[in-house]
Amino acid sequence: MFVNYAHRGASAYRPENTLISFRYGVELGANGIELDLQQTKDGKIVIFHDDTIDKKCNGTGKIIDYTYEELYNMDFGFWKGEEFRGTKICLFEDFAREFLEKDLTFAIEIKSEDIEKKALDIIYKYKKHDNIYITSFKIGILEKVRLLDKEIKLSWLIDEPINRENINKLLSIQGNQIAPSAKNVTYEGIELARKNGLGVRLWGIENEEIMRKAYPLAPEGMTVNFPDKLKELLGKMNSKTL
Ligand code: G3P
Ligand code: CA
Repeated sequence: MFVNYAHRGASAYRPENTLISFRYGVELGANGIELDLQQTKDGKIVIFHDDTIDKKCNGTGKIIDYTYEELYNMDFGFWKGEEFRGTKICLFEDFAREFLEKDLTFAIEIKSEDIEKKALDIIYKYKKHDNIYITSFKIGILEKVRLLDKEIKLSWLIDEPINRENINKLLSIQGNQIAPSAKNVTYEGIELARKNGLGVRLWGIENEEIMRKAYPLAPEGMTVNFPDKLKELLGKMNSKTL
């Protein structure tokens, strides 16, 4: 099944990686959610993308230098628009409680080192199905996840095109999906992944034009900031094939 992942939620329209962004993504028709995990100073797992909070919050510095309570008292919404002022940072556990039971596919990206076990424990507590990919640009993080869990799906984000070397690395940890940027994907790469039993998900869909060009090359789905536009495209494609 093709997955329309709301990337950091419906992040074109809401402050990214917040509960209101994830809820809106589902409302707009996404059947998947992508999110980023990092750790706070007091060891809580929160959902946030950037290395520092400077651009998407009224504070400055790194997430790891603040406790969850300190972050909770900051504003993670105003930068996206006055109407979002007061939006809170989201604990991964709060996300998991609300969303993991839903019939959606998840791409849970681990950004910080050494949070693999904590992230998995939260997933185990709330998951209702196995449509959950742990994803990372860092193969070392995926290796650690595989040592902890022999079954969970692994999706490796790569900056380069799909090639023999990255396929072999992923197969060595029983990975499931390779995720190149839309700008690097080719039919040959997809065929190589397919022959080796790996799925392909695309990221880096910065605008609708890239989305339209990349869609035929995205067998398992793509992460988009505007899931409503991808839903519309999927509708048009389906009606053409009927
Ligand atoms: O969908 C994967 C994508 O999120 C990877 O890039 O920088 O948005 O985490 P980034
Ligand atoms: Ca991400």
